Amino acid sequence: TVPLVIDTDTAQDDCVALLVGLLDPAADLRAITMVAGNVGFDQQVRNAFMTLNVAGTPAVPVYLGCRRPLVREWVSAEDVHGDGSGGLAMAQEGLVPEAEHAVDALVRMAAEAPGELSIVAIGPLTNIAAAVVKDPGFARNVKSLFIMGGSNNGRGNITAAAEFNFYVDPEAAKTVFSAGFEITVVPWDPLTLRQAVFGQERLDEIAALGTPLSRFFTRICAATLEFDRRVGIDGTTHPDSLTAAVLLHPELVRRASPYHVDVETAGELTRGYSAMSWGVHGLEPNARVVEEIDSEAFYELIKGVLARETAP
Ligand code: BDR
Ligand code: CA
Repeated sequence: TVPLVIDTDTAQDDCVALLVGLLDPAADLRAITMVAGNVGFDQQVRNAFMTLNVAGTPAVPVYLGCRRPLVREWVSAEDVHGDGSGGLAMAQEGLVPEAEHAVDALVRMAAEAPGELSIVAIGPLTNIAAAVVKDPGFARNVKSLFIMGGSNNGRGNITAAAEFNFYVDPEAAKTVFSAGFEITVVPWDPLTLRQAVFGQERLDEIAALGTPLSRFFTRICAATLEFDRRVGIDGTTHPDSLTAAVLLHPELVRRASPYHVDVETAGELTRGYSAMSWGVHGLEPNARVVEEIDSEAFYELIKGVLARETAP
């Protein structure tokens, strides 16, 4: 199994990524760390606890991290996600976060098992950057960092130029790409938009599973589905669960190439733009960017997780 931590701004597809980490037999999910992003911070925490309860795995520790980006004001994606839980997440009785701060927990867990722990970062990179600042050995201690963020010279989703996670905390993203991690990037466009969209047929198949987890999936994805259709995307998008899936199942990746990735922090129209340079510009690669996946196998993997009976 793969020891991992998921760093998340829990709403919709983040919940699905958590289900993958919690229930896929290939995963050994050691902790969930929370970072400011999609929806209000406390709502995100409720969404994470709700997901633990739905999965039947309430004992997985949740650590609260940075409540705002490093330098800038927090920007939400509530217009896309609603509350991120399809209205399901109320306070989850008996579930409380750990006392230790997420950044301390990340630094500690990586130092306790140097070279063993992978991190799946599916929100703004604030916690990861703060851990880099706190412990110069952090990047070395982490085995691999899988990041959902940026676009591979493609479209943004919050502005023309930028994908949400990098837009919200561009300084953090910039810090992380120059910190020396072994990085894999799952970008928004074109990868997620072309290869990790579940259209009506797939959504119907998932609903037909009739399990508690498939009902949960349908409910939490409803708000984003409505948003996606409004903007011309024909289905639900799954960037975060794809990021967890490619860590756990490398065979899902059909093509990934080395790139030098840097993030715009000064531009007027390009805040958070990910400049992905593919080797012709004389820059040393600092990341592997996923370019093509086995889309059908990814869908089958998610369906398999949703078909599972929840843990006892
Ligand atoms: C990313 O932003 C959020 O809306 C999703 O959770 C995903 O991590 C996509 O841009
Ligand atoms: Ca996310």
